[in-house]
This record gives sequence, structure tokens and C-alpha cells, in this order.
Amino acid sequence: MSKIVVFGADGFIGRHLVNRLSEVTDNTIIVFDKFSNYQIGSDHPFEKLSNVTIAPGDFFNRDDLVNVLSGVDYVFHLISSTNPATANNDPFIDIDTNIRGSVELFEVCVEQKVKKVIFLSSGGTVYGDVDSDLIDESSTPAPRSPYGIGKLTIEHYLRYFKHRSGLDYIVYRAANPYGPGQNIHGKQGVIPVFLYHYLTKEPITIYGDGSMVRDYLFIDDLITMVVNSYQQANKFPEYNIGSGSGKSVNELIKHIESCTGYSVDKKHTPTPKTFVDKIVLDISRFNDEFGIIPRVNLEDGIKRTWDYVQEL
Ligand SMILES: NC(=O)c1ccc[n+]([C@@H]2O[C@H](COP(=O)([O-])OP(=O)(O)OC[C@H]3O[C@@H](n4cnc5c(N)ncnc54)[C@H](O)[C@@H]3O)[C@@H](O)[C@H]2O)c1
Repeated sequence: MSKIVVFGADGFIGRHLVNRLSEVTDNTIIVFDKFSNYQIGSDHPFEKLSNVTIAPGDFFNRDDLVNVLSGVDYVFHLISSTNPATANNDPFIDIDTNIRGSVELFEVCVEQKVKKVIFLSSGGTVYGDVDSDLIDESSTPAPRSPYGIGKLTIEHYLRYFKHRSGLDYIVYRAANPYGPGQNIHGKQGVIPVFLYHYLTKEPITIYGDGSMVRDYLFIDDLITMVVNSYQQANKFPEYNIGSGSGKSVNELIKHIESCTGYSVDKKHTPTPKTFVDKIVLDISRFNDEFGIIPRVNLEDGIKRTWDYVQEL
């Protein structure tokens, strides 16, 4: 039996991950997040999972990390205090929060003899602007945004801790995950945000002319890729995980309109300078090694997200 801690468990990806881990294993899963409004016996969905223990804490407090990491085998690091949009105009925020907090985490992991750290990095931002249809892990990362710089820096620290102290790890450079449970009012996750605007028949705001291309990965596929690979001995430190194909925002809107059956007004706003025009991840390294491919196409994924948005 292994003991697992999921940091950032109450977020979009964390909730899906914890549900799946709880379903497929009898291991003890400790879920760490702020859980600001959580009280024992409340109706948080994690309360229903018998092998899950809720551990409220502050990631940026070392004592909270020490308390939760005793005797732990696997550590999922899904904490982020920023996203590409919120970090955009503040070059210090990732340094002061995510980078520092991650380094503290890795130090405590070494002290507590954790077997492996699993880190969710960002395939959409670490590479920067690459003139290529598909980007593989051999491209030299050149992030343009503080968020991407932060993610890449945390990857570098993982390499340092492995070299210095033997801390094992795997990095997943995730594309743009989307699906049920994602914040409809967020600054990340264009699909649920747009779908909510369709539901309420409000105008959507599009960056630039809508030609920006992204790689959209349905959340269930992301979770399958992570859960079915993280315990295996990885040949490489980092892996792209995405859908393997790109869609422009305009194409995305066509899919959304075919799903909802109607249109809404569109406004355009300048694309932030730190956003790249196109990013589509080559996932062959991951597929070759672990033999797992994404199953849910964009039409089905949008439909399932639309069902979720309509039930809110
Ligand atoms: N969603 C995406 O598009 C995407 C893409 C690639 C990588 N990622 C990365 O994957 C990870 C998870 O993403 P997500 O979409 O689930 O994010 P999210 O914002 O939904 O979840 C992050 C969680 O971290 C928690 N958190 C933040 N600061 C904390 C603190 N000081 N103490 C305790 N908890 C704290 C938040 O409460 C939240 O539940 C993040 O690291 C993110 O950068 C996300």
C-alpha cells in the first residue's frame, strides 16, 4: 500500500485526479488544499471517498508541508497561485509564491524520503513561440510569460534535487485541459467560459482575430494519461501530454455553435503580448513509452462540458 499526497487537490484537475485515484486504488490519498470553507462533516465530495483524508493547509507554510508529508510515497504537485493571465503583468508573483513554495516542497520531500514527485507543468507556455506544427520535448523551451518561466524554473529545480539528493520525479507538460468542473468565470479554460456565455446568451470576447491555435485535451484523457503512467519508471524527465492536434479559437467557436445550436455576439480584444500564436504538442514520446492515447474528440468533449454547464 502506498501513501499519496495531492497538493492542489481542490482545483479543477485535482478534483478529477483524486476521484480517479480513489476509484482505481486502495492506497491512502491525502488531499491538501486551502479548503478555506471546509468543515469536518461538510458536503465536500471528498468526504464520500473512503480512502481519502482531507488535509487543509497553506502550501506556502513549510510546517504544513512537513505535517502532511511524513511517510508519503508519491507527491502530486498541482498547486498554482497564478495562471497565464493573472501572472501576465507581475514578474514577481511566480518567484515569490510558486517557485519558492515548490523549492520548499522538494526540500521537505527529500527530508521525508518521498519516492517520487509528479509535477503538472504547462506545455502551452514553457516552449514560447515555436515555428513548428508540432512541438516535441527536444525544442529548447523559451517561455514568454512569467507563468511559463515559473513552470520551467520549477522543472529545473526538480532536476537539481534529483541530481543533488536523488529525488525521483516526472513532469507532465500539459496542453489546455478542459471539461466538467472547470471554472466558468475563470481566466483559464476558454471552453467552459465560452459555453457559459452561450448559456446566458452574453457576448464572448475573442483575443485578436480568433486565429490563435491551442491544443485542447479533455480532462478525463489527461487524468488517464497521468494515473496510468506516474508509477512507472520514466525514461525521460518530462513528457508532453495533449490531444495531438490543434484548433483555432474560430474553429472552437464553430464546434461550440454546432453543439449549442445557436450563436452569440462576438467582441475582439488585443491578444496579450505574452501569449503565443500557436501551440500544439507532439505527444509521441509519451505514447511510445506508455502506450496511452487520448480518446475523447473535441466534439464529444464540448458536448460533455456543455451538459455540465447547463446543470450549473
Ligand atoms: N488548467 C490548465 O489549463 C492547466 C494547464 C497546464 C498546467 N496546469 C497546472 O496544473 C495545476 C492544476 O491546475 P488547475 O487548473 O487544477 O488549477 P486550479 O487553480 O483549479 O487549482 C489549483 C489549486 O491550488 C490551490 N492553492 C493555491 N494556492 C494554495 C496555497 N497557498 N495553499 C493551498 N492550496 C493552494 C487552490 O486552492 C486550487 O484548489 C496547476 O499547477 C496549473 O498551473 C493547468
